[in-house]
Amino acid sequence: MLAKKVEKILNEQIVKEGYSSNLYLAMASWADTEGYAGIAKWLFAQAEEELMHMMKFVHFINERGGHAIVPAFEQPPAKFEGIKKLFNQVLEHEQYISGSINDIVALVIKENDYATHNWIQWFVTEQIEEESSVQNIIDKLNLLGDKNMYMFDRDIMSIRESGE
Ligand code: FEO
Repeated sequence: MLAKKVEKILNEQIVKEGYSSNLYLAMASWADTEGYAGIAKWLFAQAEEELMHMMKFVHFINERGGHAIVPAFEQPPAKFEGIKKLFNQVLEHEQYISGSINDIVALVIKENDYATHNWIQWFVTEQIEEESSVQNIIDKLNLLGDKNMYMFDRDIMSIRESGE
């Protein structure tokens, strides 16, 4: 059975994961309309992953005797100021999400909730991977400068798949 405080913070994470999904979906849609098909594909895949993260929270809360609440989501921006800025925004957002996962870890330790502590470790690992994969993309973009965006767009999915 989840303590009320734990149920509350996990429900707050549903809002954050759902917003992440919508944010990346908005970025994907923008990139698509700008002609960046590869970058859009990467972002669409990212949006789906975030949806899966949100679902994990929904199921876990209910399995542990709580009630997962489906919230309204704030509307994400529709326009972005270029590819580099967009990926910097993704990184900042992931760092913010990592911070909120850490807050959950801190609370469940305080509440002696070792079941949730055990479960949330998947997200701790996932955040390390997400931050590093976005950082990797930013590094590649910095190497390229402002040229060769065509090649970057063409290659981004292979960067993802090779886990470079
Ligand atoms: Fe679900 Fe990218 O954090």
